[in-house]
Amino acid sequence: MKIDHIGYLCKNIQNSLEEFQNLGYQKQSEIYQDTLPLEDGQSRNVFICFLEKDGYRIELVTPINKDSVVYDTLKKRGEGPYHICYQVKNLEAELEQMIEQGYFVIQEPNKAIAFQNSRVAFLFKMGVGIIELVERGFDYVI
Ligand code: NI
Repeated sequence: MKIDHIGYLCKNIQNSLEEFQNLGYQKQSEIYQDTLPLEDGQSRNVFICFLEKDGYRIELVTPINKDSVVYDTLKKRGEGPYHICYQVKNLEAELEQMIEQGYFVIQEPNKAIAFQNSRVAFLFKMGVGIIELVERGFDYVI
């Protein structure tokens, strides 16, 4: 699985965007506001923005409010990287394999506005932590 990006939690996305740009990162997207309801009725409630440097893609993620899926994680762990996202061609098939390998699904496949409505899912395993899978077509190029 090819790495798509590294997810990076921050308290204030505008502020972190400026700090990362000062470090030489290029802004790759607008700041998305993801409040779309998921299958389970919850919403992610996050601001997201993509940056790039030296071929590395970083996803800044900031909780919009206390209901955000990352609010507790940010509170507990502070600012910093918290997941690696991998590109997959068939999300269901890959999920099935990873569940067999002992991963737990922490967020079922759902469309993500920051990925032009491609579907993403989040998994967890001891020794690895949180990973994200994003469903990409064959012709997708970063
Ligand atoms: Ni991500």
